Amino acid sequence: MHSQLIEWFQVIFRFVHVIAGIMWIGNSLLFTWMELNMIKKDQDKDLLGELDMLHGGGVFHLEKRVMHADAIPERLHWFKWQSYTTWITGALLLAALFYVNGSSLLDSTRTDLTARWAVVLSVAGIVGGWVIYDLIWRSPLGKNMLLGIIASFAFLIAAAIAFGMIFNGRALFLQIGAMMGTFMSANVFFHIIKNQHRFMRTLKEGGNHDLQLAKNAKSRSLHNHYMTFPVIFLMLSAHFPALHAAENKVPILMVLIIALMAIKHLMNTRYYFRFWLVSCVGVFLLGSGLIAFFLNPPRSMQAEASAQVDPQIAAGKQVFLAQGCAACHMQGSAQIAPELDGIWGSTQKLIDGSSVVVDEAYVIDSILKPHSQIVHGYAAAMPSYEGRLSDEQLQQIIAYLKSITK
Ligand code: HEC
Repeated sequence: MHSQLIEWFQVIFRFVHVIAGIMWIGNSLLFTWMELNMIKKDQDKDLLGELDMLHGGGVFHLEKRVMHADAIPERLHWFKWQSYTTWITGALLLAALFYVNGSSLLDSTRTDLTARWAVVLSVAGIVGGWVIYDLIWRSPLGKNMLLGIIASFAFLIAAAIAFGMIFNGRALFLQIGAMMGTFMSANVFFHIIKNQHRFMRTLKEGGNHDLQLAKNAKSRSLHNHYMTFPVIFLMLSAHFPALHAAENKVPILMVLIIALMAIKHLMNTRYYFRFWLVSCVGVFLLGSGLIAFFLNPPRSMQAEASAQVDPQIAAGKQVFLAQGCAACHMQGSAQIAPELDGIWGSTQKLIDGSSVVVDEAYVIDSILKPHSQIVHGYAAAMPSYEGRLSDEQLQQIIAYLKSITK
């Protein structure tokens, strides 16, 4: 019952999380787009810009203006619940998926931290990460855009390296995604909405529209805008096991974040930078090249990184990734398929109620004739690899599976 309840919550939280996230990020992209396309007309000093958009069979005529105390619109729409809902359901999802079993965050080959510590560190990274990011942009460093950006990236890289030492790849990508997602939501709560409340209060008391507060709100909106692409990618990264299961997962993660922000930036320059599209393609090729390099580093680098790893095991891991096994059998998650860490020698319950000991014969059978023995609690979803793997590759996979212990 307990596990069914958690399962059901996961369905609800994930669905609401995705819908709210689409609404929020859609807003962020549209509002920044409107901001960039607004036309400034000189004759009216209260008019910050205007814009005409054709949609739904009519023209939306939009004006952005300075407000006056005697002309506050009666129905003024605020945009915040899309963000808060995304964050709240995201936090619940993280708890239901990972925190109930903290060891699913860890990379058992690199650390023997306890499950509880994994959860504590993850939460500390999210809360502490926000404090540091916020301090950077409140400090004198943040007054200079370039320095603020460099400091923010330095912090993010440090966090990725630190978590990369203890978390498995999937958890690492999610942790950094959750940290950036939290920066975005906290920006809405602590800066954007708060500054808007402040100038609305002054306006209602008869004061002027404080454009400095408006500017502060807008600059955090822009941070959020640039974080959208990387955060979406990281939230979907469970589907890209080749990236997060790689040995060089930290450099790959950083290339992804920087390249996606660069592409978002180039997309924003399209109205005045003629070569924006060519540049996007350039960033894509450069990013892909770098990722390909980190996925298959030259032998000299590889030898150092995996000096102690048996070549048979290393080859097995490669086959496991290349054959797409990791897309279903994920480290730290038994959602789609059984987790294979530590199964060697264990007893597995099958769907017909019988039990088997996981040995070589069973594993070979599972891979070549997956439908002959179905693990209890799973659909018969595994494809057969009969004829797709050589005997040598099978032996390599077996060596790899034997080597991964919890
Ligand atoms: C499309 C998803 C998918 C892919 C790809 C996949 N599997 Fe599976 N695998 C499953 C599912 C679901 C089960 C559990 C049901 C069953 O026993 O068939 C399973 C079961 C297994 C088992 C038995 C596990 C146990 O706990 O007893 C082994 C071993 C296994 N898979 C290895 C592999 C290997 C090796 C590869 C790649 C060559 C692979 N799988 C690719 C979905 C997948």
